[in-house]
Amino acid sequence: MEDNKIQEVQIPMQVAPPSGGGGGIHVFAPATVANVVCGFDVLGFAVNEPGDEVIMRLTDKPGITISKITGDDGRLPLDPAKNTVSVSVQHYLESVGRTDVGLDIELHKKMPIGSGLGSSSASTVAGLFAIKTLLGDESDPINLLPFAMKGEEMACGQGHADNVAPALFGGFVLIRSYEPLDVVRLPHPKDLYCAIVFPDVDVPTREARQIIRKNIQMKDAVTQWGNIAGLVSGLFMQDIDLIGRSMKDVLVEPVRSMLIPDFYKMREIAMGMGAVSFGISGSGPSVFAFTKDEETATLITQKLQQHLTGLKIGSNTYVSTINDAGPKVIARF
Ligand code: HSE
Repeated sequence: MEDNKIQEVQIPMQVAPPSGGGGGIHVFAPATVANVVCGFDVLGFAVNEPGDEVIMRLTDKPGITISKITGDDGRLPLDPAKNTVSVSVQHYLESVGRTDVGLDIELHKKMPIGSGLGSSSASTVAGLFAIKTLLGDESDPINLLPFAMKGEEMACGQGHADNVAPALFGGFVLIRSYEPLDVVRLPHPKDLYCAIVFPDVDVPTREARQIIRKNIQMKDAVTQWGNIAGLVSGLFMQDIDLIGRSMKDVLVEPVRSMLIPDFYKMREIAMGMGAVSFGISGSGPSVFAFTKDEETATLITQKLQQHLTGLKIGSNTYVSTINDAGPKVIARF
C-alpha cells in the first residue's frame, strides 16, 4: 500500500480453496487509539502493544465454532451467533461464497475489554485476517473493512471504522468518508511515542457514544476542523509541535472526560512532564499522550499510574511507537 489513498472497497468473489483441506493459523492484531483527540470517528492509529490473538483451525464440518476464549473474565460469548469475531468471519465467508468451510476459533484477549483501545476491533481484525490468509485470499485487505465494521456495529451499536481501519492496515488512518467508504493512510513522524494508561474503570463505548451532544455550535465546528486540518498537516510535515497544538477537542472530550477519573489532573501531569499532547483514547477510559522520546513516555505512564493508585484505581500502562505493520501471522500449522 504505497499510495496514501486506499483503493475503493471491492468485495472479493472468489478465493482459492484451503491448501490440503486442513491446518490452522495463529494471528495477532493490534490495539488502536481512535479519534486522536480532535478527529471523532475519522482518525485512528495502531500501536505495537497490546493486541489480541486468534487461533483458527479448519475443520471438516461446515460452520463456525468457538472452542475457547481466554483473558475476558468470562465476559464474551462462545456462541458464534453472538461473538463479533465469528459473526464478521461468517459475513466474509458468505460474501466469498465459502459457507462450505468449517472453522474452529480460539480467541485470546491480551488487552482489557471496554478500555478504549479498540479491544473488539483487534479481535475482529485478527479473525478476519486469519480466515483471509487461511483461504489464500490475496485481495487487498481493504476488502475486509466492511466485515470488520459489522463487528463494531454489533459491539457498540454503530459501525465506525476509526479502530478497525488502523488495526487492519497499521499506521495512522483517516476515514475521509463513510458513504462511500474512503480511507486514507497518513504518514507520521517515526519518532512519535505513545504513552497509554488504562484506568481500571468501565466505560462501555455504546454508552460513551450516547452521551455525546447531537448538535454543535458553528464556532465549535470551526475550532474542531481547524484542529483536524492542523493535525493532518502536522503528520505530513513531520511537525510534532503542530501535531501537539492541534490535538484539542471542543466537541466530545468536554463530555466524555467526566467518565474518566481525574482526567484534567492527569493531563496537567502529562503535559507538565513534557508530553506533546494528551487526550482520551477512543471512547475511554484509556488516556494517551504523544511524546518525542520513549523515556518521557515511560515516565509519564509511571507517574499517571502512581496518581491513579493514590485514587485506589488500578491501571495498565503501555508505551509504543505507531505500529505500521497491522495484523501479523504468528504461526501456521
Ligand atoms: N470513534 C469511536 C468513539 C471510537 O469515540 O466512540 C470507539 O472506540
